[in-house]
Amino acid sequence: MKVVGKALSHESATLHVTGQATYVEDLATRTARLAFAWPVQSPHAHARVLSVDFSQARDLPGVFGCLAAADVPGENDVGPVRHDEPLFPEEVSFHGQPVAWVVASSSELARLAAERVVVRYEPLPAIQSIAAAVAADSFHAPAERLRRGDPEQALAAAAQRFEGELFINGQEHFYLETQAALAVPEEGGGLFVHSSTQHPTETQEVVARVLGVAKHLVTVQCLRMGGAFGGKETQANTWAAVAALASVKLGRPVMVRLTRAQDMSMTGKRHPFLGRFRVGFSVEGQLQALLLELFSDGGYSLDLSAPVLGRAMFHIDNCYLLPNVEVVGRVCRTHAVSHTAFRGFGGPQGMLMIEEVLDRIARQLELAPEVVRERNFYRPGDTTHYGQPVRDAERITRIWSEIKVSSDFERRRAAIESFNEAHPHDKRALAITPVKFGISFTTTFFNQAGALDIIYKDGSVQVNHGGTEMGQGLHTKMLQVAADSLGLPLSALRIMATRTDKVPNTSATAASAGSDLNGAAIKAACETLKERLCEVAARYFHAPAADIVIDTGRVFPVEKPELGIGFSDIVQQAYLERVPLFATGYYKTPKIHFNRETGQGEPFHYFAYGAAVSEVEIDGFTGQYRLLRADLLHDVGDSLSPLVDRGQVEGGFIQGVGWLTTEELVWNESGAFVTRGPSTYKLPTLGECPPVFNVALLQKAAEPGVVYGSKAVGEPPLMLAISVREALRAAVAAFGAGGVVELASPATPEAVFWAIERVRSARKARSRAAE
Ligand code: MTE
Ligand code: MOS
Repeated sequence: MKVVGKALSHESATLHVTGQATYVEDLATRTARLAFAWPVQSPHAHARVLSVDFSQARDLPGVFGCLAAADVPGENDVGPVRHDEPLFPEEVSFHGQPVAWVVASSSELARLAAERVVVRYEPLPAIQSIAAAVAADSFHAPAERLRRGDPEQALAAAAQRFEGELFINGQEHFYLETQAALAVPEEGGGLFVHSSTQHPTETQEVVARVLGVAKHLVTVQCLRMGGAFGGKETQANTWAAVAALASVKLGRPVMVRLTRAQDMSMTGKRHPFLGRFRVGFSVEGQLQALLLELFSDGGYSLDLSAPVLGRAMFHIDNCYLLPNVEVVGRVCRTHAVSHTAFRGFGGPQGMLMIEEVLDRIARQLELAPEVVRERNFYRPGDTTHYGQPVRDAERITRIWSEIKVSSDFERRRAAIESFNEAHPHDKRALAITPVKFGISFTTTFFNQAGALDIIYKDGSVQVNHGGTEMGQGLHTKMLQVAADSLGLPLSALRIMATRTDKVPNTSATAASAGSDLNGAAIKAACETLKERLCEVAARYFHAPAADIVIDTGRVFPVEKPELGIGFSDIVQQAYLERVPLFATGYYKTPKIHFNRETGQGEPFHYFAYGAAVSEVEIDGFTGQYRLLRADLLHDVGDSLSPLVDRGQVEGGFIQGVGWLTTEELVWNESGAFVTRGPSTYKLPTLGECPPVFNVALLQKAAEPGVVYGSKAVGEPPLMLAISVREALRAAVAAFGAGGVVELASPATPEAVFWAIERVRSARKARSRAAE
């Protein structure tokens, strides 16, 4: 490979750091007659809307109009899966829900006018937690179940058992670019929408639905997003629909750009989860029975909660064999924002449950947690609890032993023990955890992608594909794939904005599958073009087409490179011979299937693996802690783009650390989301990055059946951060004298402090009992 596998910078890196990269909001200064929309948000979590009075707002200078349900020509709904998200609700279902919009010549004027809109509400009782939803039998869907073996019988027969529960809080996406859309009317009822969306096709569909027009009238473009992390997989649609509606009503371009506080109060987050488990195991720590009830907080509408719960249920095994297991999952309906996709898509919550369970087993048996983990690893020949063979199970042990060596695990473990003996008030600990993450959309039909490659007469090329760029480096990888598939240098290629009129009917860029799917589609398109050009060259050189080589922009017969001519020459020749110079490519993931009735199948094309070793130090007086060192070893197959992949591994890990340690979502008693900005919502910063941070990609790891032997990387590394939570728990344990350590999630310093207090009083109680 010439370009694939090279450690290149992100294709927009220079634009990003010089401020030249264009985002939707930047289009404001370039758009004549632009208007801005501002929401009127509900001050109640649950209420009937009795009336909306625009009279004080409508006539303010600079106000162009107000939007209410009566303005919707199509369907008053933006729900992506189930149509349960009214754009203008008669009943509000969460605190901060927009009930109406005002459009004015500036966002400041729109804001002032929106404040004058008088809405009368009749407050209703609200369900504001998973526990309250369970008590009220408030669910979005019937229970889902995955089952293997006879867990009840295995639990009864087990030598040891316990039961317990774990609440896992959610996470705010905090993409740097908040939600934004700009709609521009076109002639003949057409509409062009710039949207910061992971899913232009769905944004197009929702806009068309709300306008009541055919999809061919709506074009959606996404040039790039300033981060998305799943938060723009479905939840970009609402803002595009509002902008579209306003622009059609007013006959001018309209922008919706949420402020941070609006974004945080109106958009869904990573789902909070509650797990209740009953566990049976052997005296060696072998898991024999697991009965797990999983409740997710779906918020007010269904959104993607069903597949998110599904992925959590698929990932409760992580890397471990569960011989007898039942997991029953339910999506709770609460009066909160609608929780949505977030990097890992439920997988992290599922995996956290089993890691919690294994740690409890280890502490109950007084075994080292990593020993219990090892004893439960999948072995070659094993299948998951949903029937998928773990074909490369030896990769788990390979990564595990490689990182134990490279992180100097055993020696540091001994050093930490002597540190802890010498320090009664500070404790250090080390933890190692593995990751196995299934790659493919679990909704099988989403696993398809398209591309459109265009060669112009001068030999320059435009690459279009259905994936969107959110900072993850997809476009960088796609350029690399196109370069090698066509035999061109990167300078000959340009990647275009993602548009629904270039590649239609696309899937969301999600499930980490962006480069697998779109890369294969681009490669297919390039190969079609290359074949055509080789036939032209074959006639020119009087050589068989199979012998023609296109390499770094030169075309020649394989035996005679000295005869080589430029790529543009052969393109020109092809044009004269009336050979088409553009082609589409298409790909669908082979073989995957899953039967929802039986809960069995092979929903994943393959698994991505990794492991991490983290070391922390806790101050026993305050619960404050530091992450001293992290070693990550992650399996990306044969990397398409090692620098990009490294960025994904580092970024995913730190984002996971934020979820599990510092980031705490807080709603108050009236259902208002109060941690509405970085002043109260603690994001990980450089200060939270470990001073020693060793990141490595697994070598010699080519993945058969994926484009250039690569593997998806976007989400799996987030779950490497579980090692930090487990290290914190182990450090808390060092303040006590054995026994289970209950640690809240996120493990904020406060949560760590209370966990220490619990192990300290357990120790005191134990020593009193001994006296
Ligand atoms: N990296 C950056 N910088 N910004 C993002 O928004 N999103 C993540 C991940 N990495 C994200 C990111 C999520 S949730 C997914 S599913 C993948 O990127 C999507 O892109 P891919 O399929 O091309 O990996
Ligand atoms: Mo990612 S949560 O699949 O957008």
